[in-house]
Amino acid sequence: MKLKEKVAIITGAGQGIGREYARRLAKEGAHVIVADLNMDKAIQVANEIKELNLKASAIQVDVSNEQSTIDMAKQIEKQYGKIDILINNAAIFSTIKMKKMEEISGGEWDSVLDVNLKGIFLCCKAVVPIMKKQNYGRIINISSAAVYLGRPDYIHYVASKAGVLGFTGALSREIGEFNITVNSITPGPTYTEIPRETVSEIQKKELLKIQSIKKLQEPSDLSGVVVFLCTDDASFITGQTFNVDGGMTVRL
Ligand SMILES: NC(=O)c1ccc[n+]([C@@H]2O[C@H](COP(=O)([O-])OP(=O)(O)OC[C@H]3O[C@@H](n4cnc5c(N)ncnc54)[C@H](O)[C@@H]3O)[C@@H](O)[C@H]2O)c1
Repeated sequence: MKLKEKVAIITGAGQGIGREYARRLAKEGAHVIVADLNMDKAIQVANEIKELNLKASAIQVDVSNEQSTIDMAKQIEKQYGKIDILINNAAIFSTIKMKKMEEISGGEWDSVLDVNLKGIFLCCKAVVPIMKKQNYGRIINISSAAVYLGRPDYIHYVASKAGVLGFTGALSREIGEFNITVNSITPGPTYTEIPRETVSEIQKKELLKIQSIKKLQEPSDLSGVVVFLCTDDASFITGQTFNVDGGMTVRL
């Protein structure tokens, strides 16, 4: 148990990869807060975890709404007395329809940026004052390896995830003196229980060809690095990006 007694918020944990982060952190001894816009799904994931005799609770949050993120942080601080870990995983992702840049409306651009980038800013803004008081915190922001590939046809998404990397570096400089680390993860295409249009069956095969490890990526391929970044072994690592994509991209 590497995260015993830690209180961890995982946004967007009602399904997909966030659900796996929540389950894994709970297995490592953390009390996980499954935070999602979809409260029914959040409750379902929290119940799945509790059925394993592990610690979890559900909370509804809209990460793009400032008051909602403030309410979430206050409620968790009141209930558990601290917030050790924040995994900013919520995003508009599986519901995205692929389309050319000229077909994306200004409104669609705004909603993707509001959740995927402003949402991370608002969650950090709400939680960091609590972490500063504790003189301890671990923040992990979920970006995407799509940034390195410059994947076309969902440019608002790719732009939002590129922004996450800049945000991570700058925030790590601002709060390092409070013993709070801030890092990003860039997952490659990862197949969950949720169907989506962002990778067609043909693209799936093409993407597998350019991976070094010839296996389709699963959520559990990502949770190890998230756990590591939350442990004391990673206490001197901040402002960094961890690429987990089976070697789809090779970077120096
Ligand atoms: N699956 C992949 O291939 C892949 C690859 C790279 C990066 N990612 C990133 O990993 C993360 C998880 O991906 P996934 O495949 O599980 O996505 P998903 O679309 O299946 O799940 C996203 C979750 O976020 C929640 N959410 C959406 N808007 C919200 C809001 N305003 N407030 C709170 N919660 C909200 C949804 O309800 C959902 O539970 C995302 O940040 C995604 O961009 C995924």
